[in-house]
Amino acid sequence: MAFPESFLEEIKTRVPLAAVVGRKVKLTKKGKEHTGLCPFHHEKSPSFTVNEDKGFYHCFGCQAHGSIFDFVMKTEGLQFPEAVERLAAQAGLQMPERSPQEAQQRDQRETLIAACEAAALWFTDQLRQRAGEPGRKYFESRKLGGDAIAQFRLGYAPDSRTALKQTLIARGMSEQVLVEAGLLIRPEEGESRETYDRFRNRVMFPITDARGRVVAFGGRTLGDAKPKYLNSPETALFHKGALLYNLRNAREASRDAGTVLLCEGYTDVIALAQAGMAHAVAPLGTAVTELQLRELWRMTPEPIVCLDGDAAGLAAAVRAAHRALALLQPGQSLRFAVLPAGEDPDSLLRAGRMADVKAALDSATPLADILWRATAAGDYSTPERRAGLRESLKELVRQIAHPVVREYYKRYFSEALQKAFPVPTQPERRPWVPQGDYGRGFKGRRPLPMPKLTPRAGAAVGGSGPRERVLLAALVNHPALLTLVDEQLAQVTFQDADLDTLRHQLLDIAPSAESLDSASLRAQLTGAAKQVADRLVAESTSMVDKFVRPETDLAAVETGWRDVLVQHMRAGELEHRWF
Ligand code: UTP
Ligand code: MN
Repeated sequence: MAFPESFLEEIKTRVPLAAVVGRKVKLTKKGKEHTGLCPFHHEKSPSFTVNEDKGFYHCFGCQAHGSIFDFVMKTEGLQFPEAVERLAAQAGLQMPERSPQEAQQRDQRETLIAACEAAALWFTDQLRQRAGEPGRKYFESRKLGGDAIAQFRLGYAPDSRTALKQTLIARGMSEQVLVEAGLLIRPEEGESRETYDRFRNRVMFPITDARGRVVAFGGRTLGDAKPKYLNSPETALFHKGALLYNLRNAREASRDAGTVLLCEGYTDVIALAQAGMAHAVAPLGTAVTELQLRELWRMTPEPIVCLDGDAAGLAAAVRAAHRALALLQPGQSLRFAVLPAGEDPDSLLRAGRMADVKAALDSATPLADILWRATAAGDYSTPERRAGLRESLKELVRQIAHPVVREYYKRYFSEALQKAFPVPTQPERRPWVPQGDYGRGFKGRRPLPMPKLTPRAGAAVGGSGPRERVLLAALVNHPALLTLVDEQLAQVTFQDADLDTLRHQLLDIAPSAESLDSASLRAQLTGAAKQVADRLVAESTSMVDKFVRPETDLAAVETGWRDVLVQHMRAGELEHRWF
């Protein structure tokens, strides 16, 4: 619902931000700000600040930033209206009138939640009853003990078409609500149009939302009935692609663990929690979605995908990797723990193989490497197939939205290709330098006279000056290039003193150059470096090396830049040799 701006402002004035944050974070007052350890990422020294005057919190470590409403939403797992409601109560403010539709929607959600909660209670109760014997036996066989059963509220749906239906209707719930909550199935047609229990003779895994409220169920067959896991359908409460199993607990636990694990199944999550790793989640019977990835990245920059060590697990890993590509950011990626063949975390832990799980997590493979391995697996013995592989890799790179990440991927894959199928490089053409023994063919010949060149003369014959200007002009026009070539830039030397000053200043700016445009880059330069830079920008439109111009795309600029750099270094080498 839309709240009047004045109402939100009133809440902000009445409820001190530091007081709300202070409940989750130990704050120390420093001047106008409070600081503390960031609740949104793992850190040892405080980079999280609260500015009461401005009404926001900001973390210099993970860039988390927001208002009092954002803070309550993120730390309590609430939707915006819920956060407003909670804070309004603290402020002693009456909620503004809701529209009839909004009131109705909300009442509907609450009724559905009540139905799911009642069902969860009933399933857990059934597990303890006589009828629950098969369920108890099943959990026993899987070594799922009382702790796990209690913590994850595991239950049992007896083998009956109407047991749940009758119980909940007797408690005053409407058949229609139970259908909408996904608990009953209403047959489309047929002679019996009676509704019946969706979950029968299955052990039950309640699925909770970010606030820990039951919104759906997964029911596992005890035998070979299909499907192995039956999940609630999409309902007003339950959107499979937007939720993760165990999200609520994992959010809390990830802060201490410093990471999050994405597993395949409910039982993996539970087994890991039993082994002391509560920071695991699982998707809900579908492939990982973009929303789920974003949810994971809210917890940690590099979640570990921990998939079964079989073909299906690998396929799922590759799907997740592809899905992640468009969303990659500097520092934000995935890693992949590859488990021993035929095992999942649950089976390993049940067999007491904690060490193998730990080893897989510790040696988790970066996303780029998983993609390379998945794409390059196979026979690439012919030129056509190699060309095909190259195209596939290019296609992957194209999907990366972030330009700098894309550039690094391009480089990563071309290095991997070069390593896998080495192209013999041309023997480097060096100036012929006479050595002690000229070999048979040279017997009797006199060495060629060496040209006598001084550095000055070198510069005059098209030497290093123009190249230095080209290299710097490209950087000044394309600040993002700095983040790609800063290492190389640090290693060259320029003969022109002013140009070298500019080179130094650019290196200082490099770490933060990624999002700068040319003008804001130049605004950070000082003295001679600034003048030179402005002049280079003007000259750049008439330089022979067209790639330096502002309109060239970053990939082309980088290629051109590297070529010129190589020439520059070769020339430097020549001068050294001839001296
Ligand atoms: P798995 O078949 O790997 O499940 O499917 P698992 O967790 O190892 O199952 P156990 O150990 O035999 O009990 C992984 C996940 O895929 C979903 C479930 O969420 C399951 O946990 N799934 C699988 C379904 O939704 N439906 C199915 O029929 C099968
Ligand atoms: Mn399993």
